[in-house]
Amino acid sequence: MKRLLIVLIVLFSSPVCLIAGNLPVVIETRNTCLVYNVDSKNKLVQVYLGQKVNNYSEYGKIPSKGEAYVSSGTTNLNEPAIRMIHNDGNPSLELLYSGHEVQQVDDNVSSTTIHLKDAVYPVEVTLHFLAYKEQDIIKSWTEIVHHEKKPVELSHFASSMLHFRATQYWLTHFHGDFAMEMLPEENRLTNGIKILDSKLGTRADMYQTPVFFLSLDKPSDETSGELIAGTLAWTGNFRFLFEVGKHDQLRIIAGMNPFASEYELQPNEVFTTPALIFTYSNNGKGTASRNFHQWARNYGILDGNESRMTLLNNWESTGFNFNEEKLTDIISDASDLGTDLFLLDDGWFGNKFPRVDDKAGLGDWQANQEKLPHGLGYLVNEAKKQGIEFGIWLEPEMVNPKSELYEKHPDWVLRLPNRDEHYFRNQLVLDLTNPKVQDFVYGVVDEVMTQNPGIAYIKWDCNRMMTNTYSSYLKDRQSHIYIYYVKGLYAVLDRVRAKYPHLPAMLCSGGGGRTDYGALKYFTEFWPSDNTDPVERIYIQWGYSYFFPAIAVCNHVTSWGNQPVKFKMDVAMMGKLGFDIDLGKLSDSDKTFCRDALKLYKEELSKVIWYGDQYRLVSPYEENRAALMYVDRNKQNAVVFSYTMHNRYNDEYNYLKLEGLDPNKVYKVEEVNMFPGTKSKCPENGKSYTGDFLMKSGIKASSYTPLTSRVFRLIAE
Ligand code: GLA
Repeated sequence: MKRLLIVLIVLFSSPVCLIAGNLPVVIETRNTCLVYNVDSKNKLVQVYLGQKVNNYSEYGKIPSKGEAYVSSGTTNLNEPAIRMIHNDGNPSLELLYSGHEVQQVDDNVSSTTIHLKDAVYPVEVTLHFLAYKEQDIIKSWTEIVHHEKKPVELSHFASSMLHFRATQYWLTHFHGDFAMEMLPEENRLTNGIKILDSKLGTRADMYQTPVFFLSLDKPSDETSGELIAGTLAWTGNFRFLFEVGKHDQLRIIAGMNPFASEYELQPNEVFTTPALIFTYSNNGKGTASRNFHQWARNYGILDGNESRMTLLNNWESTGFNFNEEKLTDIISDASDLGTDLFLLDDGWFGNKFPRVDDKAGLGDWQANQEKLPHGLGYLVNEAKKQGIEFGIWLEPEMVNPKSELYEKHPDWVLRLPNRDEHYFRNQLVLDLTNPKVQDFVYGVVDEVMTQNPGIAYIKWDCNRMMTNTYSSYLKDRQSHIYIYYVKGLYAVLDRVRAKYPHLPAMLCSGGGGRTDYGALKYFTEFWPSDNTDPVERIYIQWGYSYFFPAIAVCNHVTSWGNQPVKFKMDVAMMGKLGFDIDLGKLSDSDKTFCRDALKLYKEELSKVIWYGDQYRLVSPYEENRAALMYVDRNKQNAVVFSYTMHNRYNDEYNYLKLEGLDPNKVYKVEEVNMFPGTKSKCPENGKSYTGDFLMKSGIKASSYTPLTSRVFRLIAE
């Protein structure tokens, strides 16, 4: 009977046109479906997550896989999605289905909202789902509210819970550290609980990025296998919990990390979790990544379908050691090279405590008068004169104890009242839970922008995690600190974006310590790692490519590594190209090559790399070479990158079979980005082949010489 019940929406009505949903609840994208139903006890259960079935009515016949959002304190014996202690001390919650609505937001996006209520206590839990049809992505989050007389304590507050039934589960996650980010590890899940999490507070992804693949029945590869790929849009402590129980059932519980975060929820306060963003693929990781890339360009990063500025950054070449004259020369180099922007990095500020190294000055965001006697405005104008834009590095959430800011506001810092301060990179974290600190951090950005009109780009850094975590502002609500900090950060970023909606900005955190879609919606791009050795970068960029689109990944040509500049350039080109190198130290032919390569990238290749579909062809984790390609949406143009990191006596590199082309189109294959005076050694260079041939037979793309690379452009005739 319940299945046929049309739910009347009275309590939850909204001004937009909502449609009271029939049961089962069907949340679908182009290829995927997530289905919920209600059991005989009126509990919401997940019945299906997978490829869409043809006969819609059959969704109603699928048995339960498990309760949709499991609560704690009554009959549940496993990890709960939610746990609450009521103000009478009762620690139980039993959530029953009370209705749902669906709304078509636009041609591509539909929204489903499912309401759950406790029968005894006035507690409501709302499960939200946004389904992105074309991208096959589902975003799911939860709202929790109660109307008890006094606050309740929330100790578990998942964004989302998903259930699976498969014979085996293979989890791929991405571990790392400074300068070695995003290293994939794949393991079979055994019975019990596996947790991927962060407790770092800030720079939260330093050891673990909030992304995972879960392959069902067997490990999946690029083109085959059934899997879920997921990520949490949250710039703080996260937790993915995978619990394999009896009958090979798996539950995923994803959300903010409940670690040290018991939350006192006031009557009528709505507690909104961040979103789990996930996709399902039954043909491997490649499809899942492309789904994420497309979704991110359209919904996940700022201005994802717009252009990007190539840049020259001074960090690697000067460190803290520069002055106006040196920077003016670098600006002129940047212009001569052909980049769109010069980015001034760390070290430009601090007067009482000059920022001559990383020990002092952080927090005092006034131009250092010795290094920059005419201020930032002078450099902005120098850049303008040279026909390029000017960008600036900021790390506004942090402070050195040696700073005027610290002297003035020691209470603005996170630190324990009765223990020694603990420094990381000689600095402390400002207390963004405090609205006054939020005003200050917003003011740092706003002042630098208003006092130096013409600044066209910012790099927002965050170089430490939280330790000795305590806020004097929060007083007896210390367990709110991790959540309030991130909300404080978002409040600042909301203000920045309200005033500067399209200012291009790089998200950075000691390299890739902040790479999540909670923050990326405020940023146009991110810095994946301080490690810019191109061999290392092939692996790091490969790792990020599973979840983040090339247009958002900043790759710079630097002096790290002894490889030829051609190799460095080809590696940096597989994302958003930039430079961080002393051009004065390059030979004339290297300089000419860089100039030509940048022109080729800007005028031709970048469009395919930034907006096209990416196909990973040969993994550096499987061979001593790597290859990947990008194909534009109408399959007219493609760019193929091939790198040889190493070569062993027996290595035999097969023909590289391309992917994603139109089998019926004829493509001219041309090796491009050649170093001056060299000729292509690829037998297919300059010839034309059908997409069918190129995908079935392939091209001899890889060289056998270590530390060499090749770039091919394919144009449909
Ligand atoms: C971090 C960033 C670098 C650079 C330095 C400056 O390490 O990742 O790119 O900006 O800070 O201190």
